[in-house]
Amino acid sequence: PIPQRVQLIDVGPRDGLQNEKQPVPAAVKIELVHRLQAAGLTEIEITSFVSPKWVPQMADNGEVMAGIQRQSGVRYSVLTPNLQGFEAALQTRPDEIVVFGAASEAFSLKNINCSIAESIERFAPVVQAALAAGIAVRGAMSCTVGCPYEGDVAPERVAYLAGLMKQIGVQRVDVADTIGVGTPLKVQKAIQATQQHFGVDHICGHFHDTYGQALSNTLAALQMGVWNFQSSVAGLGGCPYAKGATGNVATEDVVYLLHGMGIETGIDLDKLIDAGAFISDFLGRPSGSRVAKAILNK
Ligand code: HMG
Ligand code: MG
Repeated sequence: PIPQRVQLIDVGPRDGLQNEKQPVPAAVKIELVHRLQAAGLTEIEITSFVSPKWVPQMADNGEVMAGIQRQSGVRYSVLTPNLQGFEAALQTRPDEIVVFGAASEAFSLKNINCSIAESIERFAPVVQAALAAGIAVRGAMSCTVGCPYEGDVAPERVAYLAGLMKQIGVQRVDVADTIGVGTPLKVQKAIQATQQHFGVDHICGHFHDTYGQALSNTLAALQMGVWNFQSSVAGLGGCPYAKGATGNVATEDVVYLLHGMGIETGIDLDKLIDAGAFISDFLGRPSGSRVAKAILNK
């Protein structure tokens, strides 16, 4: 049965802006977060505690976390690839940390400079420390349908990674289509593989829209009972280690889809469109959301 309510996690400030060519001041990121929470988003992925040499756009992680006026009922998450990142993140009191691995070996090496097995060894103490500190833990799984370096990724690889994530104590996982090559049946197979280790309540869909399939893939995941999704306001983004990959599916477009199906999100679409217009204006380009464009041009 299709869920009656969906929880959206806006990853725009992190996944969206990590790949941005022009510098985005911390104050703009903070204002974006404020607008997202004003629009009713109750989970926001803020930043990454990664190497500033690898991803300079996230170098202001501490400043952004410190500048946010937190709203009760809103959960703020950050990416932490290793203990060094976790310890820096801990100072900023995130509600959830995200370890991020890949179902493909080549992507793991390019993105985090280690094999899948090594990444799990690095994540294990991070997960332990987070849980001990009362911080929730999510595991992002990249390339669950396709990899920019290896091509198609088999569902067995996804099941393998999900099993490792489960073993080290990760509480929920993102099934990510990093380069947006997935189509509904392939995405359903990746989710099914994940379900060998995580219940549907602990699976989030994370679909990039490079090939224009993300909304279809969202619907396909909904039909399996998935009710947690990541999306990016104005369709911002891409991954610096996935050349040519465009942003996540636009939050506005997902909200329009869901509300049109009578599914609750708690989000005010008009305010969300304002948040998207704010960041698109700053970046000096049109929003990547079809819904935002349609409504603003009416
Ligand atoms: P490494 O070079 O193997 O790390 O990088 P190292 O432990 O050998 O350390 C080397 C240097 O990095 C040292 O500095 C460390 O201090 C520093 P130096 O002595 O040379 O001056 N360092 C750090 N600095 C700050 N924070 C840290 C940290 N760790 C080490 N946490 C590392 C390994 C993982 C750090 C590196 O590969 C990295 O930062 N990668 C960034 C990956 C990234 O952010 N990718 C984008 C996010 S993932 C994504 O977008 C996909 C997702 O959306 C899902 C999907 O769509 O697929 C989640
Ligand atoms: Mg992503």
